[in-house]
Amino acid sequence: MAVERTLSIIKPDAVAKNVIGEIYTRFEKAGLKVVAAKMKHLSKAEAEGFYAEHKERGFFADLVAFMTSGPVMVQVLEGENAVLANRDLMGATNPKEAAAGTIRADFAESIDANAVHGSDAVASAQREIGYFFAETEISAR
Ligand code: PPS
Repeated sequence: MAVERTLSIIKPDAVAKNVIGEIYTRFEKAGLKVVAAKMKHLSKAEAEGFYAEHKERGFFADLVAFMTSGPVMVQVLEGENAVLANRDLMGATNPKEAAAGTIRADFAESIDANAVHGSDAVASAQREIGYFFAETEISAR
């Protein structure tokens, strides 16, 4: 198995619920290490750039409005198969469809306020990590 890095965002709804620590515990128990982290209040331009691939979707304006509605916690996770491991921890995009015990089943309210983001592939993880972090901000552990 390959050691990978993935980008995770704890979204404004979960930050407001004060469950950053509970979500970090899930990463750690799954063997994922936090190798970089920052709290940010995204600007409209930052959110639009991050989600640029979705700009033609009907929900784009709502997604950008939600992601700029409060601070987010952005982190790089590292571990065996980190991209898929984090997707498994997160559960389905729509919390109503998320498996029991996943982050979205436990902490998310709706498809737009769904607690966490995680890269969906190694290539997108590289782009997304580079969007928020310089290589010098990521610690080897
Ligand atoms: S896709 O087609 O698989 O790329 O799309 P999906 O992963 O389902 O969704 C991409 C991101 O858009 C968010 N999303 C929404 N936001 C607001 N309203 C609606 N209806 C909606 N549907 C999807 C979804 O949470 C995804 O955000 P991230 O941050 O990537 O998880």
